Amino acid sequence: MAYNEVKNNANRTFERTLTYDLYTDPKVYEQEIEDVFAKSWQLVGHVSQLENPGQYFTAEVAGEPLLISRANDGVIRAFYNVCPHRATKLEKKDEGQKKIFQCSYHGWTFHLDGKLNKAPNFTGEEAACVSDCHLRPVRIEILESLIFVNLDENAKSLIETYGDFFDRLAKFPFLGELKRVNQKTRVLKCNWKAFIDNYLECDHCHVAHPGFVATLDMRNYQIVTCQNYSIQGSVVKPDKTMGSNDLNEAEMQGGEFYWLWPNLMVTIYPGPGNMATIQMLPIDHETTLAVYTYYFRDENLTQEEKDLVTFAEQVREEDVELVELEQIGFRSRAFNRGVYSKSEKAIVQFHELVLEALGR
Ligand code: FES
Ligand SMILES: [Fe+2]
Repeated sequence: MAYNEVKNNANRTFERTLTYDLYTDPKVYEQEIEDVFAKSWQLVGHVSQLENPGQYFTAEVAGEPLLISRANDGVIRAFYNVCPHRATKLEKKDEGQKKIFQCSYHGWTFHLDGKLNKAPNFTGEEAACVSDCHLRPVRIEILESLIFVNLDENAKSLIETYGDFFDRLAKFPFLGELKRVNQKTRVLKCNWKAFIDNYLECDHCHVAHPGFVATLDMRNYQIVTCQNYSIQGSVVKPDKTMGSNDLNEAEMQGGEFYWLWPNLMVTIYPGPGNMATIQMLPIDHETTLAVYTYYFRDENLTQEEKDLVTFAEQVREEDVELVELEQIGFRSRAFNRGVYSKSEKAIVQFHELVLEALGR
């Protein structure tokens, strides 16, 4: 346990956070790549990017180049984007459409399902030696049109990992109709965990997000921790006349903000069908690539949808400054850890999972 339970003078129990070296030590970052990012489900895309056979996109997970494509049998597969002949990165573009994948080095070609087609520099008897040199597959699962991969061949399935998360999403019937309409990236000068910590509590909302608190019913703001994920949102009592099966479950009608271990956030606002995903991809121990992706029914956004994006970006802008200021303090010798408030239990959950993954 890296946080200790301590009592203050009023005898109220509170807890200490992760030590700050976990946000500043390059060795911790290297261990996280292996023990967190190479062992967890990572969102790489959305089925709307692969509507037709031959469509593909490339991605990077835990430093590994990946290739995700839909083959002629309609199946979406993921591979290491690495040629079995001599390791050359196979597809260089972010996305495209191909009948066959061809390595730019010695011209080996691969079918859309990853099987070797031809190895031109291996002829006659030699050809038989390389006939099973296919692209190396990567575990892939698709739920609610979101494409996840996991580099760990022994990892639990998505459903086993996140329990009822996908059941919760199923109550948004529009999710299957959404398209990935745009993606923005931004480099943050902070450790990836600092932004996750920021997302997982709303104690800062009244101070930092005046527009956000004006929109949501903050008296009913709740944070619920679940299996490897958490939900936050403004909660109102369910309408008992709706005849739903889960009358006991409060509906979050003011927007739902999910976090999934380790680095994915999913937000769904009320109103027209919408979803946004936010991913924190570490570049190094003190630099993070934030990837924001918006999903709507149509690429041509209505004014209401444009306003929603502007609103979300305003809130985000307010958070970026805070986490970059926090990173400066993480480096300081002033303190080596902080304190959780009672309402920050989703951060406690995140930190416990970090410590478990790192074996500390
Ligand atoms: S490295 Fe790909 S064909 Fe040789
Ligand atoms: Fe915030």
